[in-house]
Amino acid sequence: QTLHPKLWELNRTWVFQGPGPSLQPQTMLLDEAHERLYVGAKNILYSLSLERVNHQHREIDWASSVSQVEDCLMKGREKPECANYIKVLQRYNTTHLLACGTGAFNPHCAKIRVGHTGQFELEEQSVESGRGRCPYDHNSPVTSTLDRGELYIGLYTDYWENDAALCRLNNQSYTRTERDDRQQLNEPKFIGSVVIPDNNDRDDDKVYFFFTERGTDAEGVNKAVYTRVGRVCANDQGGQRMLVNRWSSFLKTRLICSVAGPNGIDTHFDKLEDVFVLKNKDEKNPEIFGLFSTTSAVFQGYAVCVYHMDDVRAAFNGQFAHRERPEHHWTPYEGRVPYPRPGSCASEVNGGGFSGSKEFPDEVLRFVRSHPVMFSPVLPLHRRPVLLQTEPGGRRLTQIAVDRVQAQDGHYHVLYIGTDDSVVLKVITIYNKDTDTIEEVLLEELQVFKVPFPITEIIISAKRQQLYVGSEVGVAQVRLHQCDLYGSECADCCLARDPYCAWDGITCSRYYPAGVYTKRRFRRQDVRHGNAVQLCNGLQIDGQSVLERQVYGVERNSTLLECTPRSLQARVIRWNMAMSTPY
Ligand SMILES: *[C@@H]1O[C@H](CO)[C@@H](O)[C@H](O)[C@H]1NC(C)=O
Ligand SMILES: *[C@@H]1O[C@H](CO)[C@@H](O)[C@H](O)[C@H]1NC(C)=O
Ligand SMILES: *[C@@H]1O[C@H](CO)[C@@H](O)[C@H](O)[C@H]1NC(C)=O
Ligand SMILES: *[C@@H]1O[C@H](CO)[C@@H](O)[C@H](O)[C@H]1NC(C)=O
Repeated sequence: QTLHPKLWELNRTWVFQGPGPSLQPQTMLLDEAHERLYVGAKNILYSLSLERVNHQHREIDWASSVSQVEDCLMKGREKPECANYIKVLQRYNTTHLLACGTGAFNPHCAKIRVGHTGQFELEEQSVESGRGRCPYDHNSPVTSTLDRGELYIGLYTDYWENDAALCRLNNQSYTRTERDDRQQLNEPKFIGSVVIPDNNDRDDDKVYFFFTERGTDAEGVNKAVYTRVGRVCANDQGGQRMLVNRWSSFLKTRLICSVAGPNGIDTHFDKLEDVFVLKNKDEKNPEIFGLFSTTSAVFQGYAVCVYHMDDVRAAFNGQFAHRERPEHHWTPYEGRVPYPRPGSCASEVNGGGFSGSKEFPDEVLRFVRSHPVMFSPVLPLHRRPVLLQTEPGGRRLTQIAVDRVQAQDGHYHVLYIGTDDSVVLKVITIYNKDTDTIEEVLLEELQVFKVPFPITEIIISAKRQQLYVGSEVGVAQVRLHQCDLYGSECADCCLARDPYCAWDGITCSRYYPAGVYTKRRFRRQDVRHGNAVQLCNGLQIDGQSVLERQVYGVERNSTLLECTPRSLQARVIRWNMAMSTPY
């Protein structure tokens, strides 16, 4: 199966393992300005070099005190749980990070000073309680994002994990979802969060949370899991008389990722495993990639769906969902919707009639409290997944990261998908408008760790053209491309269909769009079709090339077809051409 020499033998990957044998990274943060990768682990914070993760790292020991560990054991917890697992790591300002750890079931936060000289110090006087900012249990799901000095976080705030909340914390205030309101959150599992502007008015910025939760239909009967996108206004200060310190703008709706079945019954991928928000030049319109799995006990499958902000906004601007009683069906709310529209922000764009959410009429607050769910779900681009894995016994898919790559025939999204066996799949998907079909092209299977472990984190640095990949055993860095692996022939390079690579007349090398290096000579690349015959036509193909050997194989002895393909694509396409191309 492995077509390529091992990545580590090619110096394409480097692994940081710390003291070993298990690093157990909990969270990672990319800092391109300081050229560091910060890793929150068990009792330790690391600062790694982006150039070479296993060279000249710095570390901060941040273990729980002996008395904290004793308290934890007294509460009946096991020894491995009674440690400081660093779960939250965010850039606080230009000089400091905010770090929060479970602190042996007694969460704590601190500021970490970072600088260009590789500075990496915990400021002892900044250590404070992390309650509401970090879970107690390191297995508890958490998502956080920090924007303009404010921490947005989805977590279980209490020891017993009864109280799930979406919160915002700053010096002055603590704003959150309602306690014990199953309509707002029902056994959620937090996956991701991001701040996205709606327009040029920063008062209209929205914070989006991605999570799964249980349906509340017919109380307790339907316990199905659904994926949700929820949002609040970043400037939401809560209400004055009611919803004090509670969101006055929280709404949510369902994210759909499904395929139509032959009998008209759709297969739904309801469980969000990971989400990646691909930023754009237009910061109002990032693309959202969700990696989903099925919740079925009989059928295990995975899918990637892509969502556009237009569709997300349309769902939140659409009808509210309504039902008379928990056992009734959801219907679109047909009554009068109060003004200002529930879920909208106090901003100039919305008329500037309200200087803050505390001025919103009670009627608006009551409505948003009783109707937090939108009637329309968000459907994916092309109304179906761009990638599917449904073969039984296939590997589990755990993480996703995406790079946007400019190729000669357009731009491509290169998907990096982490598996449970230390592999990162590098895939492009090509939509054919004429046939309304999507082609998946597996470019490379990158085995980043020598031993099979689930990938728990993938961070992409476009600036450095590297992936940073976490698993229980360490943090690996992998170059996004290695074009020379596809060989030096035009045909090999073309068949690989890797948008990072093109044939330059001598070898397969990194492709740069016209204008980046003006004096580049003609480059040959055909990502969309990988049509080597057309692209490399007229070029001298020597007797050893893959293309020529096929001809003999078909004529005489199929075993002669056993030539070594240079890329994963060459193997597939070789057969097609042998069948259909007369030489
Ligand atoms: C990888 O790096 C080592 C040490 O720097 C070097 O000896 C070796 O030749 C390199 N291998 C490749 C394939 O470049
Ligand atoms: C960043 O935050 C820290 C901790 O609150 C503070 O001491 C420091 O002055 C801030 N730095 C800047 C540049 O604002
Ligand atoms: C938050 O509080 C810290 C210490 O109490 C202070 O240094 C900092 O300036 C405050 N930040 C804001 C945004 O008020
Ligand atoms: C076909 O190839 C195999 C393996 O190289 C060889 O053993 C066999 O003799 C070949 N058959 C013919 C008819 O050439």
